[in-house]
Amino acid sequence: MSELNSALDHPTYNYKVVRQFAIMTVAWGIVGMLVGVLIAAQLVWPALNFDLPWTSFGRLRPLHTNAVIFAFGGSALFATSYYVVQRTCQARLISDKLAAFTFWGWQAVIVLAAITLPLGITTSKEYAELEWPIDVLIAVVWVSYAVVFFGTIAKRAVSHIYVANWFYGGFIITVAVLHILNSLAMPVDLTKSYPVYAGTVDAMVQWWYGHNAVGFFLTAGFLGMMYYFVPKQAERPVYSYRLSIVHFWALIAVYIWAGPHHLHYTALPDWAQSLGMVMSIILLAPSWGGMINGMMTLSGAWHKLRTDPILRFLVVSLSFYGMSTFEGPMMSIKTVNALSHYTDWTIGHVHSGALGWVAMISIGSVYHLIPILFGKERMYSVDLINVHFWMSTIGTVLYIASMWVNGILQGLMWRAYNQDGTLTYTFAESVEASHAGYLVRLIGGAIFFGGMLIMAYNVYMTARRENPADDAVPVTSGAA
Ligand code: HEM
Ligand code: HEM
Repeated sequence: MSELNSALDHPTYNYKVVRQFAIMTVAWGIVGMLVGVLIAAQLVWPALNFDLPWTSFGRLRPLHTNAVIFAFGGSALFATSYYVVQRTCQARLISDKLAAFTFWGWQAVIVLAAITLPLGITTSKEYAELEWPIDVLIAVVWVSYAVVFFGTIAKRAVSHIYVANWFYGGFIITVAVLHILNSLAMPVDLTKSYPVYAGTVDAMVQWWYGHNAVGFFLTAGFLGMMYYFVPKQAERPVYSYRLSIVHFWALIAVYIWAGPHHLHYTALPDWAQSLGMVMSIILLAPSWGGMINGMMTLSGAWHKLRTDPILRFLVVSLSFYGMSTFEGPMMSIKTVNALSHYTDWTIGHVHSGALGWVAMISIGSVYHLIPILFGKERMYSVDLINVHFWMSTIGTVLYIASMWVNGILQGLMWRAYNQDGTLTYTFAESVEASHAGYLVRLIGGAIFFGGMLIMAYNVYMTARRENPADDAVPVTSGAA
């Protein structure tokens, strides 16, 4: 392994840590989505809970969310940010050792999560379930990440800081603040702690964290990815650099206020709920500004979509980004939320962002990176990337369409009244009516997961093969 690494060492940049994170993106993607498929199957056939506490839906669900968001998405963010910051600053990472620490530290966090969550060790705060010793480790790794990233920016060889780094930087700082403030807790022993906040304040802090985990972990960092990989793959400059700067400042100024839309019709003061709603609606503007900026970067390069499945991944991810950031503001309107909240509509919205946007832009970026990181001309099979693209797209559409149908069905059934004021349907009837949708979601999820297996094969074959004849740069003139 070390021989392989030294053979692939880049003279200027640290590609080793990028390569490690890129490979783990694929590996954790497979693990996290496999758990996703399992819990989707449990909702179709409850017998798959196996009557064991460790394999029950309640314990595996947070395992899924942690694995896909922090292990899969996190690894993609580390890999691409370390790559982009070096290339755009024309400087090697400030410390190879500290970068290696962030890799092993982050993997340790993930393994600890995979052990503790099935054991039922949890704070029960969504997306912040890990207990305090792991939280401390996360904070240490994250601060080291910030040192490596900003340290590299500080020693850059060019005066300009490319816009992708602004998004990555905003994501790194905000996630540190969110994680540390939301995790403040009183430990009782190694596996149990109580938050320092109580009641409604606890809920507000949790959803300030939760929504900004979406806004910064699942959005700002991936927009950094978009601003580097879309222009690179399309071989065109960003459509409007000015718009990208407006996009950045507008996004970070507005996102942070939108959290209360997760707490509509709760004990949270009404004015705070309305503020969250208004800010969420305003959020449509910067989100679409950014999406349009990414799309328009393809001006003059649209024909490339016919032959380049990597570009397809990137562009389709942007359309899902546009879709989920239109849907989100609509769902934040109180009267709409009264119908959508607690239903599968939310799950559909989540996965149009998670599968369509986050996963597809990560997959596209990793396909762009792998040949570069392994010193190859291109991926082993472009046809397999194409198959993967269609599986991801079809899988996502099946997933979100079935959840929309289920969500609206559930919302309408729960609010249906008879003339005498009694409920028309029992809750169990709405569960029964949702069964077909759960089956379609399972099929869609399994197709998406199958695509990840194809990706793993393609990555493996790219990494291990000798540069074959068709990969060699043709030596037709002295210039080659
Ligand atoms: C093969 C792909 C996937 C499948 C089959 C899948 C399946 C599921 C299922 C069944 C749930 C529980 C829904 C419920 O409680 O009713 C869920 C929740 C969730 N998944 Fe996935 N998932 C997949 C991929 C992903 C990815 C890639 C991400 C993120 C990048 C993601 C993020 C989430 C989140 C955040 C939730 C919690 C949603 C909420 O609480 O509202 N999933 N997923
Ligand atoms: C303008 C942008 C967006 C707005 C205003 C927005 C708004 C909303 C709203 C109103 C909910 C439902 C809250 C509830 O009823 O409990 C929600 C849930 C959610 N959204 Fe979004 N959304 C946006 C974009 C996104 C994107 C791009 C993603 C993913 C990458 C995403 C991921 C999620 C997740 C994970 C949840 C479920 C949280 C939970 O209850 O566990 N959102 N969003």
